[in-house]
Amino acid sequence: MTKSNYNSLLIYIFFIGGLFFSQAQTRKVITLKKGWTFNKGSHPNAINSNFDDSKWENVTVPHDWAIYGPFDKTVDIQKVAITQNGENVATEKTGRTGALPYIGEAWYRNEFALSNFNKNKRVLILFEGAMSEPEVYLNGKKIGEWKYGYSYFYFDITDQINDTKNNLLAVKLTNVGLSSRWYPGAGLYRKVQIIIKDKNSIEQWGTFITTPVISKELAKVNVKTKVSVEDARLVTTIYDAEGNEVSNNEDNVLFNNEFEQNLAVKKPKLWSPETPYLYSAISKLYIDNQLKDEVTKRFGIRSINYDQKKGFSLNGKVRKFKGVCLHHDLGPLGTAINISALRRQLRILKDMGCDAIRSSHNMPSIEQLELCDEMGFMFLAESFDEWAKPKVKNGYNRFFSNYAEKDIVNLVHATRNHPSIVMWSSGNEVPDQWGTEGVKRAKWLQDIFHREDPTRPVTVGMDQVKATIESGFGALLDVPGLNYRVHLYEEAYEKFPQGFLLGSETASTVSSRGIYKFPVEKGIMKTYDDFQSSSYDLEYCSWSNLPDDDFVLQDDKPWVIGEFVWTGFDYLGEPTPYDEVWPARSSYFGINDLAGLPKDRYYLYRSRWNTNNKTLHILPHWNWEGREGKITPVFVYTSFDSAELFLNGKSLGIQKKNNQTPQNRYRLMWMNVKYQPGTLKVVALNKDGNYVTEKEVKTAGKPHKIILNSDVNTLKANGEDLAYVTVTVVDKNGIPCPTATNQLKFKVEGKGTFRASCNGDATSLEMFHLPTMKLFSGKLVVLVQSTEDAGAIKLSVTGKGLRKGTVELISTN
Ligand code: GAL
Repeated sequence: MTKSNYNSLLIYIFFIGGLFFSQAQTRKVITLKKGWTFNKGSHPNAINSNFDDSKWENVTVPHDWAIYGPFDKTVDIQKVAITQNGENVATEKTGRTGALPYIGEAWYRNEFALSNFNKNKRVLILFEGAMSEPEVYLNGKKIGEWKYGYSYFYFDITDQINDTKNNLLAVKLTNVGLSSRWYPGAGLYRKVQIIIKDKNSIEQWGTFITTPVISKELAKVNVKTKVSVEDARLVTTIYDAEGNEVSNNEDNVLFNNEFEQNLAVKKPKLWSPETPYLYSAISKLYIDNQLKDEVTKRFGIRSINYDQKKGFSLNGKVRKFKGVCLHHDLGPLGTAINISALRRQLRILKDMGCDAIRSSHNMPSIEQLELCDEMGFMFLAESFDEWAKPKVKNGYNRFFSNYAEKDIVNLVHATRNHPSIVMWSSGNEVPDQWGTEGVKRAKWLQDIFHREDPTRPVTVGMDQVKATIESGFGALLDVPGLNYRVHLYEEAYEKFPQGFLLGSETASTVSSRGIYKFPVEKGIMKTYDDFQSSSYDLEYCSWSNLPDDDFVLQDDKPWVIGEFVWTGFDYLGEPTPYDEVWPARSSYFGINDLAGLPKDRYYLYRSRWNTNNKTLHILPHWNWEGREGKITPVFVYTSFDSAELFLNGKSLGIQKKNNQTPQNRYRLMWMNVKYQPGTLKVVALNKDGNYVTEKEVKTAGKPHKIILNSDVNTLKANGEDLAYVTVTVVDKNGIPCPTATNQLKFKVEGKGTFRASCNGDATSLEMFHLPTMKLFSGKLVVLVQSTEDAGAIKLSVTGKGLRKGTVELISTN
């Protein structure tokens, strides 16, 4: 293994707001993507250069070793009572962490060269997450270790670097069972970088940019820069998104090791989800007129305020979070970070009208934050799901006392310049909500956040609302966050002093895309023989509620500052309400399924959140052979107030939103429709009862042809970019077949590769990386990945008795 990583060695060029800045030779950042070998098992000798890893697997990083499966019910079976779900008898939970082989020890090795290393340099190695308990060795010596798999951390490796060509990096990772409540992934699933800079330079994460004063005419941009030098000069220049210089400041006064500069930006363009405008600050460090270091940071000019009377405001305008919680896995890719996958998620959420993300229940990837800055999403960055008291035996409780402060410091330092982050969270439903020790811990953690970042408030997602009212736990938080417990909002609002509440976690409604159950009625922890949940969106958990219950609070209570729905996308693990049955290995909570395909609920949220585009959506599908003459209710999720429904041309009457029940307020429902095959049409009406627009659903015939739709036509030839191709089967008239389950095969030719597929079925045991999969509710998604060569790519999808589908893509340099 001698592949080196020269790709980013020379000049570090990066792309900001349409412009290329090329950073001078002062600092180099090498992203270690290639040249890795990997093996599971215990290999203590892998730290030595004469160790033979020729039989190890060659991998690229980010990498998730467990996503290739197979799904296995015996992996991490957890015989537990989930007390926070109200259980008091231990039962066997099979798919709780996804039934994927994440447990065990594994090693990664990489040999890299530093061609320009000399004694004036300082070298750091940075990990943006390593799952988990990483131990890092360089040239045979241990250079450090971390514990929490979600933390960013770095080590100074200057003294261990060989000034010759070959430096051998070896990383040991260990995952133990009973350490998570969801699929944690396994491996070096985020970036690993080598940073080479001068001994006299700007510290890692040493820049902190805030915008304390903003008016129409002027913004004050405060730049604090920590350096490892006693006497120097710092020149900071601010550029707008078009690359024009807008402000400049030179400073030679160091307070301890920190410069503090204030720069004025005239007529600032403010950052918001609707106008995600970004500036860049380039800081140059000089000693005796010699340039020693240069660092570029993107930032936004925006103000946030949490007010006892008005609630939350951004740039002086009161608004409520239209947010979703997200776990970190990317469905069929597992946890290995991929920018196209993240961007697609955000595009889907944007169209829904979502404007905020909560990284439940841990540190977000830097890539996700960068995209949120660019695409316009506010961010609630969370840190922990456990403090000192366990939820799972081997969870973060093992590390809390030694690591909590370090983990928070790194979270804040690494991410504080992202304008998207508008709030921190120190914990989620921690069992420490009980007891006085927990109150102290809540204060201790919040104080650390405040010390490191005085500009943003801190929340905790609380489920033990009564206990936190009594103990003072909730009162001390900057932002009291309630997870579910809609019936306690009023009481919490009255008893907590803050004057507002956040729905830090809401809904936990469950559904399977395209699956409908009869009779149509509300159900708590409802289960069925096929291990699916109904997409009439009336099923939820014993601790949770329906979307409409949250809408009522959001709409009627000015002191509720928004919500974060559990969850934007399905995720691996936690298959509630099927925690105890096999095969169920991923969640049912998502507004979108594991493949990123929208469930009906997507349109329910879109109908109120997307205020730029109208929504008109009918459910269920209309293929109900055997239900002829039987009651088959029809729901319409729409931004219009009323609509008329027609079955085969015959009116079934007009429905109007009303206040009888939360469902009547937010959905149009025709409860007594008797199924007949044909065409179901809904006509949206305006205030005067006149036609505005319409939507139809038709009964489909037999599956006939495969149709492909790619989310992008052009890919970057970088070996990482992805096209998500939605595969649908239609009948001979082109009508989608909503119940088709055909087994399909995938073939990619040209300058692309088949990366994965996913159908959103939480009970499927088919592996994502194999080029065949069954349709689920008539659809699935194929992920096509570019290679490093530009050119044409063709995906063909075939299935027995079906006309083949093809799509052509192009990848460019
Ligand atoms: C919450 C918890 C989440 C998830 C969710 C499922 O209590 O914070 O992590 O478990 O329940 O409804």
